[in-house]
Amino acid sequence: MADAGELAPRARICIDFGTAVSKACLCLDPAMPLEAGVRPIPIGAVSGADHTLFSPSVLFVDSGRLHFGPSALRRAQGGIEGSRDPLLSFKTVLGAQDVEAALATRIRPSADPTGTFRQRDALVLYLAYLDQLITDALTRMGDLPIGVGRARRRYTSPVWRAGDGRDRVFETIFNEAAAVSLKLGRLLVAGEGISIAQCRDALDRARANPGNGRLETGVFEPHAAAATALAYTNEPTRVVMVIDIGAGTTDIAAFEFDERANPPALAEIKEARQCSALAGDEIDRLIINLLAKKRGMIDKEDQARFLRTARLVARELKQEFFAQGRVTFKDGWRTSSIRANDFNEDQQVKAFLNALGNTIARSLAIVAERARRLHARPFDIVLAGGGANLPFLPHLVRAAAQHAAPWAVDIRVGPLSPANSLYSGVDPYFADVFPQIAISVGGSLVEMIGAPTG
Ligand SMILES: Nc1ncnc2c1ncn2[C@@H]1O[C@H](COP(=O)(O)OP(=O)(O)OP(=O)(O)O)[C@@H](O)[C@H]1O
Ligand SMILES: [Mg+2]
Repeated sequence: MADAGELAPRARICIDFGTAVSKACLCLDPAMPLEAGVRPIPIGAVSGADHTLFSPSVLFVDSGRLHFGPSALRRAQGGIEGSRDPLLSFKTVLGAQDVEAALATRIRPSADPTGTFRQRDALVLYLAYLDQLITDALTRMGDLPIGVGRARRRYTSPVWRAGDGRDRVFETIFNEAAAVSLKLGRLLVAGEGISIAQCRDALDRARANPGNGRLETGVFEPHAAAATALAYTNEPTRVVMVIDIGAGTTDIAAFEFDERANPPALAEIKEARQCSALAGDEIDRLIINLLAKKRGMIDKEDQARFLRTARLVARELKQEFFAQGRVTFKDGWRTSSIRANDFNEDQQVKAFLNALGNTIARSLAIVAERARRLHARPFDIVLAGGGANLPFLPHLVRAAAQHAAPWAVDIRVGPLSPANSLYSGVDPYFADVFPQIAISVGGSLVEMIGAPTG
């Protein structure tokens, strides 16, 4: 069989296992025109998720079996009574100072009451599951070189990795995931779950006999987002600041773009880098609190039940709220609604927006000063991640800019999507989701040669 090395020698696949959803993108060759060379992979179509390009980052143990993705979510929703929680974030593991220690911790009993799996096991199994989703999704894309599934792999990371030895750890994990994917194959995506004994057996064998995970590199998430912004914009600026509002974290970073280098280089303005927990999950909590206040509680048990039910659909409630300006939630015979005014006048919401605005202003002050010294006008503030859709965000950023650098009026703020006139090159089919897939897109296309390090 032909090898990816012959047919697509420069191809690579980048995965972004975000707190809320995983995404994956194939870059056939960074020198190709973007619309032909960069191909988001429809892993959600394979896993049965709500959107073809996202698959929920979820793992759940139920009745002695391990479930992934949408089927894990459904099981968790069915088990509301049992105070179980399906959500599992790899972000803390990926971003940990001491990665080895983070990998060795057991996953929460609310996700795995059997206490069988450590974070490392969960990551290996989840990557094996993603590998199966990707393999299947590639066959649905058509028009791809044979063997492209064997392209090198990248993953996006909330911290810089290069040179600090951590990629050895992740290389081993990718290699074990490749062996688990080979051993368990379609069982991983079949939807009936896999027995814990089978998982344990596959993990032990993979440890003794790892496969070839083809890991090329980790890519710093804001670096990936900035690379996407510059690749897709029709008017590049010398300085770019990225605000990536995901579910678990808001990551801010800024870069100086040097087009004279080949490949063009992105040098980070390191003093501007920040990572904050003021992100989508926090907004979910604010919305739930508002609903809880409106609803009122009968007793503690009633409250606990409401919270468990609401948390599992919090993201949908939030999206509806921001799209419609109101949302209604039903649990049992109770109905509660909130409107825009409830949100805007709530003290906790005000405190959240204030804190987020201050965080943005801190980075902005540094970036604006650098842009001023470089005579880089205007400069772009690019909104990435699912939170880029939050309607209050552009205003919040402009207010932060007024506060941090009143003289730096020449900024352009907007989402990394065709909704922003700077990105008319993006396929309109991806318009709604582009800010969210932008990190995996950039991670797949960015040239790592000359990449800055942390
Ligand atoms: N239209 C929307 N309006 C408001 N929030 C949205 C919208 N679409 C997605 N989100 C929110 O964006 C978040 C998911 O974004 P994203 O996929 O960028 O996060 P992630 O990569 O999984 O998380 P992280 O980067 O923190 O690990 C969720 O909190 C989701 O509810
Ligand atoms: Mg993310």
